Amino acid sequence: MRASLFQHIVSLLPPEVAHNTRMRIMRIFGALPMGRWWLKQLYAPRTGDLHTEVFGLSFRNPIGIAAGYDNDGDNLSNLGAMGFGFVEIGAVMPRRNPGTPRPRLKSLKRATQSLSLLDQTGYPSRGREHVLGNVRKRRKHTKHLVIGCNISKMTSTHPDNIAKEYLRVFRNMYQYVDFFVINIACATSTKPYEPRTAEDIRAIIDPLFEFRRGQLDYRPILLKVSPDLTQEELDTIIEILIETPLDGIEAVAGSRAMAKELGYTAGGAVSGAMLTERAIETVRYIAQKTEHNYPIIGSGGMMTPDDIVRMMEAGASLVALNTGLRTRGMRLLKKGVKHLTQTPQPTETQG
Ligand SMILES: Cc1cc2nc3c(=O)[nH]c(=O)nc-3n(C[C@H](O)[C@H](O)[C@H](O)COP(=O)(O)O)c2cc1C
Repeated sequence: MRASLFQHIVSLLPPEVAHNTRMRIMRIFGALPMGRWWLKQLYAPRTGDLHTEVFGLSFRNPIGIAAGYDNDGDNLSNLGAMGFGFVEIGAVMPRRNPGTPRPRLKSLKRATQSLSLLDQTGYPSRGREHVLGNVRKRRKHTKHLVIGCNISKMTSTHPDNIAKEYLRVFRNMYQYVDFFVINIACATSTKPYEPRTAEDIRAIIDPLFEFRRGQLDYRPILLKVSPDLTQEELDTIIEILIETPLDGIEAVAGSRAMAKELGYTAGGAVSGAMLTERAIETVRYIAQKTEHNYPIIGSGGMMTPDDIVRMMEAGASLVALNTGLRTRGMRLLKKGVKHLTQTPQPTETQG
């Protein structure tokens, strides 16, 4: 896949600086009507009709942005103008979270000969108040953009308060976003949080279901899972999906096990090309086990249009991009939509 000149220049910078530079430039365009028009001309898909209904929401196309790309929702206007089907903002934290000291995002290109990253960011966030302001303000420019909210554990949260903090963010954001992703694979800091037993996972999601029962509007809740689970642990999550009002699964987050294999024992998760096959196989397993009855967001190593098509064929209803956009550039959306349009889709949308 050919990269643009801009992508070449940006790729010479350290990964976090490159991302922030790109986002800053695009934010300037996103703030102006002319700039949004230009972004649309340059990046928005034009081919075919890939409109899809998933968990009761209407997506203009199935390709969106995974968590950790627009942490604070500062870029909703420009990402909306570029034609993404959805943006999963976050992780949204109950209060400001500086994350790990820089540098904290490492290119693994030399070490692994692949477009992969080591994420040790610790999920920096300007906190839910800032994010709320952005979502409220940007709604008028992002009518066609579905907005998801990712909630993850803060590194500093005391173990006794974990469930309370997930619930706090969930309640605050409830009426402003369209769906939620509850990340239980928070592995980028030195204090990873990856609950794997039914009891620990239910302790987090049951209070969310209870809060939702009292609301007029329904917001789908998905669980985001680690690529490092054993088959037994993944089966536990599938049982939770079937037995509770959980609406779907996002598979997968970054891999802590791969980071350890590469010798990064101090924390961190591998994202990008090294994850592609693991992510697709995890989605295929969940889809087959649930007889394609539940929506799955496929995430992890979606680097090329072909990866996106294979992820949909494995059973994903939606596909979320992160490292692919960082390393290949923003045209991945347009190319992905074009490739999907030219490929017959095997499954009906669930949910
Ligand atoms: C810099 C960075 C920050 C991330 N932050 C979050 C986060 O806050 N919450 C979360 O659930 N996942 C986060 N992720 C994981 C991604 O959402 C995604 O699941 C993972 O990177 C695999 O997809 P990819 O290979 O396309 O990047 C982050 C990933 C990266 C690279």
